[in-house]
Amino acid sequence: MAFSEKKRLQLESKIMSYRYRNKDSDQRKTYDEVFDEKTLLTLYKMMTSEVIDTLDFPLATGKEGNVFRANTMDDKPIAVKIYRVSNSTFKNIQKYIDGDRRFRGVGKNHRRGIYLWAQKEFRNLERMHKNGVTVPEPVACDNNVVVMEYIGTLEQPAKHLKDVELDDPQKIFDHLLGQMKTMYQKADLVHSDLSEYNILMIEQDPIIIDVGQAVLTNHPMAQEFLTRDVKNIIKFFNKHGVEADNAEVIEMIRGET
Ligand SMILES: Nc1ncnc2c1ncn2[C@@H]1O[C@H](COP(=O)(O)OP(=O)(O)OP(=O)(O)O)[C@@H](O)[C@H]1O
Ligand SMILES: [Mg+2]
Repeated sequence: MAFSEKKRLQLESKIMSYRYRNKDSDQRKTYDEVFDEKTLLTLYKMMTSEVIDTLDFPLATGKEGNVFRANTMDDKPIAVKIYRVSNSTFKNIQKYIDGDRRFRGVGKNHRRGIYLWAQKEFRNLERMHKNGVTVPEPVACDNNVVVMEYIGTLEQPAKHLKDVELDDPQKIFDHLLGQMKTMYQKADLVHSDLSEYNILMIEQDPIIIDVGQAVLTNHPMAQEFLTRDVKNIIKFFNKHGVEADNAEVIEMIRGET
């Protein structure tokens, strides 16, 4: 049997098993949506070009997509984020698409909009990674599939900031502000959905994830998004006894103080 044919069958049986393991019919529907025909083709292509060897198991089901743990040919774990090509995904990303000239002309073509969106996440990851923000290292992107470094140990994926006991909250807070400053000043980006849910922890070190919606600092909504990000982070750390002033933190991130 040809190499790619074998991989294709392996992948198909894996997907079938996800599907049937799930008694919940909503979950099943989600899998049908995620693995539509075109997405399967994209995954086969990534297997043929040896970006992915095997798709191992689901890590999370998000609003817009699913994240899987996979393996490379040289047996390194990677994370594969697959955006669902659906109306609801398109609706959720719309407010970030408006005002971004890269999406001009997408109109009602949802599939194209979602492909561009995945590409935007990949490019944002590249831009942040290159400029020293601790995000998963980008690996590859094709259509609605983004492949990146897997954050976690072999036994389990990294926990979210919200679920970790913090040894020194002030230190982690300061570290995160430094990351936000680097993101703003060096990568020229505002995350725009930053919270304790989109930060993973390796030991006591934060890794920022979910950067699809990050916008350039000159985006018409950038300052509003930055204000919201800062508010979320301060609110979370307040609960851990850290005090900070929103306006001062924003100024610091923008480099005005
Ligand atoms: N690189 C990674 N390594 C390990 N786990 C990851 C990685 N990327 C994402 N995850 C897991 O998958 C979850 C969903 O990923 P992400 O936040 O990027 O997607 P999303 O579709 O926007 O999800 P949500 O709607 O929950 O915000 C994360 O909260 C995390 O648990
Ligand atoms: Mg998320």
